[in-house]
Amino acid sequence: MYHRHDAVIVGAGGAGLRAAIELCGKADVAVVSKLYPTRSHTGTAQGGIGAALGNREEDSAEWHAFDTVKGSDYLGDQDAIELMCQEAIGAVYDLEHMGLPFSRTEKGLIDQRRFGGHTRNFGEAPVMRSCYAADRTGHMILQTLYQQCIKHNVHFYDEFHVLDLIINDGVCCGVIAYELATGELHTFHAKTVLFATGGCGKMYKVTSNAHALTGDGMAIPYRRGLPLEDMEFFQFHPTGIYKMGILITEGARGEGGILLNGKGERFMERYAPTIKDLAPRDVISRSIYLEVREGRGVEGKDYVLLDLTHLGSEVIETKLPDITDFVRTYLGIDPVKTPIPVQPTAHYAMGGVPTDVNGRVLADEKGNVMPGFYAAGECACVSVHGANRLGTNSLVDIQVFGKLSGKDMARFCAETDYTPLPEDPEGKVREEIERLKLNTGNESAAKIRTELQAEMMDNASVFRTADSLGTIRRKLEELQERYKSVRVDDKSTIYNTELMEAYELGFLLDLADCLVVSAEARTESRGAHCREDYPKRDDVNWLKHTFAYQTDSGIKLAYKPVTITKFEPKERKY
Ligand code: FUM
Repeated sequence: MYHRHDAVIVGAGGAGLRAAIELCGKADVAVVSKLYPTRSHTGTAQGGIGAALGNREEDSAEWHAFDTVKGSDYLGDQDAIELMCQEAIGAVYDLEHMGLPFSRTEKGLIDQRRFGGHTRNFGEAPVMRSCYAADRTGHMILQTLYQQCIKHNVHFYDEFHVLDLIINDGVCCGVIAYELATGELHTFHAKTVLFATGGCGKMYKVTSNAHALTGDGMAIPYRRGLPLEDMEFFQFHPTGIYKMGILITEGARGEGGILLNGKGERFMERYAPTIKDLAPRDVISRSIYLEVREGRGVEGKDYVLLDLTHLGSEVIETKLPDITDFVRTYLGIDPVKTPIPVQPTAHYAMGGVPTDVNGRVLADEKGNVMPGFYAAGECACVSVHGANRLGTNSLVDIQVFGKLSGKDMARFCAETDYTPLPEDPEGKVREEIERLKLNTGNESAAKIRTELQAEMMDNASVFRTADSLGTIRRKLEELQERYKSVRVDDKSTIYNTELMEAYELGFLLDLADCLVVSAEARTESRGAHCREDYPKRDDVNWLKHTFAYQTDSGIKLAYKPVTITKFEPKERKY
């Protein structure tokens, strides 16, 4: 079926919906999402959105920018970071004016709490910068933005899986989507397209990411010859519920929670003497792994404890109600009385589709853009998170760059006509669906996915070496080969989730390949990329962004310089 809209936004999370709001009244806008919009992953973000409002303590956008640059281990582009931290303040007030029910101070101001790596006066001490709505900030953002979209008559196509990008003569002119309810293919012809599809955490076994986070919006342009930037940097959040990976917000430590090893020691005092349990995530996740490795996990196992018991039931029940509920439901313990077993959980891709600050997708490392194509949020890489994202900055990123993308898309729509579609735009997707459905091989997508997740966890997570990366690269070659023989038993057209899961597995495999090849090449340790065989950061050779291209002869890597404005790289200590 054919559809035509000036602007097509793929993904109904915070970045996509914020862009849609910006486009309303300026262009005919449609949001195409594989989920029902309010199930998008933004809804699981818990602890807050960072902005230097200074409602509790003195703060400044410059301090926020410094913390973000340092948190990124100096790989973030500083022009984009400065812009994001300045715009963050207005972004929070925009949300307040749209009706978001933030938690409040005694004076009625938006309340703020501490979060990892956020400091006052260039690292002096932790600062209260995270604006929050209890521990369901992302949920509130998603509901607020969705209500605004409904109010402004944005056209939604729910449960439509976008599987390909339409490009004609170097210009992006639409997408192809599979409708889950009917099995029908849809061609969306557009002047401009935004990918805001979130991350790819499902390539790991223990993850905070929902089932849908299969990196579609990264893999689709990658398969079309566009680069992916800095894919080797994948963040592990230190506090996932043990074995389940479900997020326990950093806001719990922002409120005063502490981490304890199996000997009852507050081990972060050793690794980050100044800000301790409020160090950035890469530092804490590594510390937990080291404690476990040295035999100080709880009961000799691979977890530590997050202790909130000293906070008292009032703080826990009012400021952290959702995580309290999760712990009671999934572990059967009460965090008011008992510390919570936690371990690092795969959380966030710092890398993604490279863009400029207006969300325009870069076609190469030289900075040329692909006309009509935009990306924002976790699937994109501006790059404001560099080698390690600070907590709360994902919600800032989606609001600031969602808005800026929407604004530039409106400009593009006003200045440009529709580019004609190429011949048979659905051909490639139809062929892949037929291949999966007609395949008589014996391989199961679920089995390949389980192996992928286990091997990525063992070999390409918090610590890596040339050996571990070589092992996983060879395993990926085997899995890619086996993927050719994946059999889909469900041949129907109605809600064929087995077919879509097999399709998504192909995306995950391509992205895992890209991550591993980028990580093997980077012979240094920086942020979330910790090479035990190259333990030091190497600014002489590696202060640069990786651009990975999928080609017929394998993955090709190129590099782009990091933009430095006012913060010269220094040794990173907390
Ligand atoms: O810990 C958290 O609440 C997660 C926030 C984030 O990833 O920014």
